[in-house]
Amino acid sequence: MARTPLLLFLLLLLLQRHLYAVESAIGVNWGMLSSHRIPPSIVVDLMRENRIAKVKLFDSDPGILRALVGSGIEVMVGIPNEMLSTLASSQAASDVWVAQNVSRYLVKGGVNIRYIAVGNEPFLTSYAGQFQSYVLPAMLNLQQSLAKANLAGYVKLIVPCNADAYQSASLPSQGTFRPELTQIMTQLVSFLNSNGSPFLVNIYPFLSLYQNSDFPQDYAFFDGSSHPVVDGSNVYYNAFDGNYDTLVAALNKIGYGSMPIAIGEVGWPTDGAASANITAARAFNQGLISHVLSNKGTPLRPGVPPVDVYLFSLLDEEQKSLLPGNFERHWGIFSFDGQAKYPLNLGLGSGELKNAKNVQYLPPRWCVANPYRDLDGVGNHLKLACSMADCTTLYYGGSCNAIGDKGNISYAFNSYYQLQKQDSRSCDFDGLGMITYLDPSVGDCRFLVGINDSSCSSIGCGIFCGLWIMTFWVFMYLKVLGSL
Ligand SMILES: *[C@@H]1O[C@H](CO)[C@@H](O)[C@H](O)[C@H]1NC(C)=O
Ligand SMILES: *[C@@H]1O[C@H](CO)[C@@H](O)[C@H](O)[C@H]1NC(C)=O
Ligand SMILES: *[C@@H]1O[C@H](CO)[C@@H](O)[C@H](O)[C@H]1NC(C)=O
Repeated sequence: MARTPLLLFLLLLLLQRHLYAVESAIGVNWGMLSSHRIPPSIVVDLMRENRIAKVKLFDSDPGILRALVGSGIEVMVGIPNEMLSTLASSQAASDVWVAQNVSRYLVKGGVNIRYIAVGNEPFLTSYAGQFQSYVLPAMLNLQQSLAKANLAGYVKLIVPCNADAYQSASLPSQGTFRPELTQIMTQLVSFLNSNGSPFLVNIYPFLSLYQNSDFPQDYAFFDGSSHPVVDGSNVYYNAFDGNYDTLVAALNKIGYGSMPIAIGEVGWPTDGAASANITAARAFNQGLISHVLSNKGTPLRPGVPPVDVYLFSLLDEEQKSLLPGNFERHWGIFSFDGQAKYPLNLGLGSGELKNAKNVQYLPPRWCVANPYRDLDGVGNHLKLACSMADCTTLYYGGSCNAIGDKGNISYAFNSYYQLQKQDSRSCDFDGLGMITYLDPSVGDCRFLVGINDSSCSSIGCGIFCGLWIMTFWVFMYLKVLGSL
């Protein structure tokens, strides 16, 4: 008889595992802050080749969504923070947004939009509260709009939160939401919970390492640590788990200890800081993927890994803000042109990363400093070039930091020249620049050649594109009719 409760217990345990231990899926973030963009269709092919089945976007760019039509890839579209106040104050605006950016694509064979990210890290401390009061009202309106469109069960609202939404005096088990956010977080989590959405958080051990000189280096990675964090009977060997369980503890304190968690952004940059390099990025990302796919979970959630993990990022974006640091433009597992930076197994069954195919580059030519000219007066040119184009690799910790003064100038000139799509006037610099057909790259320092995206710049092609877009919408319209 004594065995019955035990059996029941085992059964419950099994059931619980069955209910909660959903296999994590690895997805990617796809940002667009780049002036060297490979066409969206090539990016979608790149994802499919690598069996990446989930993508998180930062907006709802029609060009990207068109490229995702029929791909089957699960999509999270994003609403920029700047739109939150409008959506919060107007049901009509919310209806229009959902109609134009979601419903329109959600037809059979269309785009598989499953999530709408409402804002991007709207509670970030540095925003000083300017967005936070709009988040919930916007969600309520959007939920209404989804219900009207009969999508409420299929498309879920979600809010990507920075890990600065919670804190702990020292140990993960002491995690709490920031005091001024407690009320809003309680409402948010209650809303998410009733809609079956996970809590979405961005976790960056790289930033902890970059910002604290006394942060133990090995604690940022997944190979064990000589400085484990001992929290009662729990021991933490990596920053990711420590951070994750700080959130679990914070959720527990507001009464949602078993709220599912998804990781909206996590990754490691490859350039622009001493700790941002290929070796470290590979170790971190591979360690993370293995850790998550092992289904080990964390000390506070054993056997329950995050429901989804979106790597940051798919591609480098060389127009991103430099406020966080020079590394900010180098988060991609692929470079801007879709070439794998290092071997990485995403655990999706496609082996190591496969490169983008059919990328069209501009002609193989570069702009460099004219070796026959005195370069004394080059200062202002450099400033202009580097304010518009990317020079982040030239600084301390960057891959082009050791190429010398003349090398620096050439690098800046070339960066600007490629940004201007190799317009010959952009290599003038008062006669100090010169076009060359010999690749000036040295060692790991790569002088880039831009992407040829001019297929729609000529008039003939403009008409072609117009026709194509028209055909596309007629097609989608017929699909909508067909699906009614
Ligand atoms: C939503 O759709 C409209 C109409 O297509 C478009 O103008 C707008 O840019 C979209 N919103 C975002 C955030 O991309
Ligand atoms: C790469 O980064 C790691 C960890 O962040 C650091 O320990 C290592 O020294 C770096 N490697 C190089 C070659 O700078
Ligand atoms: C080249 O780049 C780095 C960053 O400024 C520096 O260490 C080196 O001295 C540079 N020279 C110039 C011209 O900036």
